Amino acid sequence: MNKDAKIIVTEDGSHSVYLPEINESYHSSHGAYRESIHIFLLYGLEAWFARNRGKLPVRIFEVGFGTGLNAWLTLIWAEQNQVPVLYHTIEPFPLEKEIFSKLNYIEIDETLTHYNPQFQRLHTMEWNTGKPLTEYFNIKKETVKLEDAMLYSTDIVYFDAFSPKKQPELWDKDLLAKVVASMNPNGVFVTYCAAAKLKKNLQELGLSLDEVPGPPGKKEMTRGWKSS
Ligand SMILES: C[S@@+](CC[C@H](N)C(=O)[O-])C[C@H]1O[C@@H](n2cnc3c(N)ncnc32)[C@H](O)[C@@H]1O
Repeated sequence: MNKDAKIIVTEDGSHSVYLPEINESYHSSHGAYRESIHIFLLYGLEAWFARNRGKLPVRIFEVGFGTGLNAWLTLIWAEQNQVPVLYHTIEPFPLEKEIFSKLNYIEIDETLTHYNPQFQRLHTMEWNTGKPLTEYFNIKKETVKLEDAMLYSTDIVYFDAFSPKKQPELWDKDLLAKVVASMNPNGVFVTYCAAAKLKKNLQELGLSLDEVPGPPGKKEMTRGWKSS
C-alpha cells in the first residue's frame, strides 16, 4: 500500500506521509504534530486521565501506527507524568526505514529532542512482540489488519485509520462494534473524523458523544465515552 510513500511538510512544519496511490496523507495538512497533540493527547489521553486518575496502567489501542507520532507523544507523556502506559498498536503496512528515519518530529519541540532514540526504537523494535521501551511505556506492535486483530481490553482508542472515503471498510459498523466491545467502562474513543454516519454508529453502539473542537483547520472531531 505504501511503496510510493513520500514525506510532505504540513502547516506547522512537521512532516506527514503522502500516498499517491490513494491520494491520501497520514495527517491533516494543517499540521500533523498539532493534530496528534490535540486529538489523541489532549482530548483522548489527558481527558480520560482526568476522569480516571487512580486507574493504572493506562491501556491504549491505536489503529494505524504509521509514522509512530501518536505512540511517541504518548511515550513522552507517560515518562513526563510517570504514569504507566500499555500501548497496543496495529499496522499492516509498516513504513520503510528510508521514510521513518527522516521524519522530523524530534525537531518540532526542542525540549523533546532528547527523545530521538525512543522515536527510532519505536520503529526499529521487532514487530509482533511486546516490550517495555522506557520505564513507563510498554508497547506491543502488530502487523495485522484491524479486521483480523485480536483486541485486548482498553481504556482509550486512538482511531487513526485513513478516511472513510478511502478505506470505508475500516469504519464499518460491525468493525466499530468490535472496537467498542474492547473498551473498558469509562473508556474513550477519539478520532479526527467527524462524519455524521460515524457519530450515529458510535451512539448506536452505546457510546455517549460530547462536543469537542477539532484540531487547527477543522471545526469538529469525534469523541465517545463508554458508560461506567
Ligand atoms: C491516517 S494513517 C495514520 C497513522 C498514524 N497514526 C500516524 O500518526 O502516522 C492510517 C494508518 O492506518 C494503516 N492501515 C491501513 N489499513 C489498515 C487496516 N486494515 N488496519 C489497521 N491499520 C491500517 C495505514 O497503513 C496507516 O499507517
